[in-house]
Amino acid sequence: MSCWPMRKVAVRGCELAVALEGQGMPILFVHGFPLDHSMWDNQIEAISRDFQVIAPDLPGFGGSSPLKVESQRMEDFADSLGELLSVLGIREPVVFCGLSMGGYIAWQFWRRQSDKLRALILCDTRAAADSPEVAQQRITNADRVLKEGPDFFADMMIPRLFSPRKLAENFYAVEKIREVMRRTAPQTIAACLRGMAQRVDARPWLGEITHPTLVIVGEEDALSTPAEMEGIAAAIPNARFVKIPQAGHLAPLEEPQAVNQAILEFLQQLR
Ligand code: MLT
Repeated sequence: MSCWPMRKVAVRGCELAVALEGQGMPILFVHGFPLDHSMWDNQIEAISRDFQVIAPDLPGFGGSSPLKVESQRMEDFADSLGELLSVLGIREPVVFCGLSMGGYIAWQFWRRQSDKLRALILCDTRAAADSPEVAQQRITNADRVLKEGPDFFADMMIPRLFSPRKLAENFYAVEKIREVMRRTAPQTIAACLRGMAQRVDARPWLGEITHPTLVIVGEEDALSTPAEMEGIAAAIPNARFVKIPQAGHLAPLEEPQAVNQAILEFLQQLR
């Protein structure tokens, strides 16, 4: 269940569900894998007081129509988001805020949709491609999800997404996120696992990104570590780096106040 009225928009043969709240400079929030727009509920609420927030469910996720491809490329997600903005009539370039897989898509959005991009916010993501071992594990998991469904995958992912303390305290959002994963179609999970396994190394592009950029990481993120994200921020000429205490990979959900403050400070300076 979404907290927000979701608009349905036809984009490249897919019906996308999108939350549209607030007015002003447009901020596009792109969720991680295998999640949906609701991971940004706290940000939608806080940021839409002063800005226009656009928070879609990516093709295949949440309320959007299922993915039918075997492998979903990050390039195609980026192009769908570009078209979504056109269909919505959003002509002003957006601040693209992506978490993890949303960050993999951000690199492609920067390459392919640069006329639509004002600034970047990269949360808990990576620029490097998968190692051969990680890519192989994704292919194995894709096959298994298609055979067994998403439950085993949700059980495997959950401990990696939250800080140990949030898991131990049974933080309310842990079960919410598990449910979102369980509801995600096996075909979507498999297609994205294959697409992420094939994604290219974005590190050579970092020095060319001239857009204002904010890099945010949970201090206890074990998937995209603070050291790795600090390296990303150092390689992007116009980037600021913010580390969020007591948060893991899902920092915007775990510590929304600290993340919202960092985002709002960054956005105020763009105005
Ligand atoms: C995510 O949160 O989007 C995933 O951890 C991305 C990945 O599996 O690399």
